[in-house]
Amino acid sequence: MRIKDEKAMLAFGRKLAGAIRPGDVVTLSGPLSAGKTTLVRGLLAGLGHRGEVPSPSFALVQPYDMLRPPVWHVDLYRIEDPAELDELGLDDVGGEGVLVVEWPEHSGHRAWPQALALSLEVLDDGARALTARVPAAWEGRWPPR
Ligand SMILES: Nc1ncnc2c1ncn2[C@@H]1O[C@H](COP(=O)(O)OP(=O)(O)OP(=O)(O)O)[C@@H](O)[C@H]1O
Ligand SMILES: [Mg+2]
Repeated sequence: MRIKDEKAMLAFGRKLAGAIRPGDVVTLSGPLSAGKTTLVRGLLAGLGHRGEVPSPSFALVQPYDMLRPPVWHVDLYRIEDPAELDELGLDDVGGEGVLVVEWPEHSGHRAWPQALALSLEVLDDGARALTARVPAAWEGRWPPR
């Protein structure tokens, strides 16, 4: 799928919000500035979040627990040792929350085999190409409309 600019990425995130369910995990791969956080901004806006969406590059985890479903936005870019993952408390998200993870490959192994795994690639003209690995749980919900 081709996503031509930042506005289109926000719009895609909003559409994804319409398909999201409690317990979902969405991973976002792609190089620096590919648009991962931008997609999350659209997703959170679609779930009713108003206000800022800081990149959790330093905090690692940014909870949005007033939303329904509640969302935990995670950025593993600065994780140096996959063991640090255990300290983030992500297991507490449980079946009711949604986990959105940038840089999932920094967890060292496929920590979320059940995830909707999205990858962004920067094209020559600045647009982004989005590809998805769609798990069984997302059949019938992908692509979001
Ligand atoms: N098609 C596009 N989709 C998303 N962002 C785009 C697009 N074209 C240009 N941009 C720009 O690229 C940048 C994307 O930044 P963003 O923080 O979303 O990236 P990121 O993948 O989260 O980076 P990081 O790995 O540093 O967290 C923004 O400045 C945005 O305006
Ligand atoms: Mg980011």
